[in-house]
Amino acid sequence: MKDGVVDRRARFLEVLGIRTEWVPKAGVGTVLAGGSGEGAEVAQRDQLPELPELPERSGLSGLSALSEVQAVALDREPAFEAGPAEVRPSAVAPAREPVPEVVHALLPQRAADIAAMDWDALEANVAGCTACGLCETRTQTVFGVGDRAAEWMLVGEAPGQNEDLQGEPFVGQAGKLLDNMLGALNLARGRNVFIANVLKCRPPENRDPAPNEVEQCEPYLRRQIALVRPKVIVVLGRFAAQSLLRTTTPIGKLRGTVHEYEGIPVVVTYHPAYLLRTLTDKARAWEDLCLAREVHDRAGAQA
Ligand code: URA
Repeated sequence: MKDGVVDRRARFLEVLGIRTEWVPKAGVGTVLAGGSGEGAEVAQRDQLPELPELPERSGLSGLSALSEVQAVALDREPAFEAGPAEVRPSAVAPAREPVPEVVHALLPQRAADIAAMDWDALEANVAGCTACGLCETRTQTVFGVGDRAAEWMLVGEAPGQNEDLQGEPFVGQAGKLLDNMLGALNLARGRNVFIANVLKCRPPENRDPAPNEVEQCEPYLRRQIALVRPKVIVVLGRFAAQSLLRTTTPIGKLRGTVHEYEGIPVVVTYHPAYLLRTLTDKARAWEDLCLAREVHDRAGAQA
């Protein structure tokens, strides 16, 4: 392997916190196919796909926390977090009462009203929203956080327990990984990035969002995207990707190509909570972020 490629891989492994995971550790063998020990480590590294160039960044400082997150993830199951169906195959929305026709009939007006709101009105409207049953179980709404003039927008699924308590998206363990992924792109929460979810309220027990909940909440995300007007949207996880892109295509097929939402390029990647558990897909996530960086930079060149 060429030196440059080795360096890039080493940096990439460090950035995504994988480096520590190649160190043989009790219990890790089941995660890393191919055995343990140094020979296995080399073999695993060699099996990684060719990596795209790392974007230029000022350094890898601030990423050390990621290794801790990963170490925790290996040693014990991380606290259960919201959203990604990738990590909770049995968590489906329960059968529920049919939504009254009148609720559907009011949707276009609701969407039109929300589409006309400015940031203050939108935030106040979300905070007081009672359009679906989630208002009965939430602690608070989770509007979204970050730079309202950001060039990057990240979209997750729905608040989990931590987010419901703190009122901010991605504040649990998955959030730490997300922050480190952003750091690897020389971005940070609040600096040229806005983070939001498809749903603004936590589904109880972190179950899958129900279709009518998505339907009621979608105008909020749509308006947030319209107000931010990012150069690129990175969608985190199957659920958010399928909701935003209105498709049932599996995430594996949605990754790797650039989609579009209201004229804005969209790149799909895995949900950070899923990545905490699925070491092998981190290399793919890194490729997705590099694609997003490329799309962003290209959009900048055209502006
Ligand atoms: N998972 C999500 O999709 N969103 C959050 O805000 C937290 C966890």
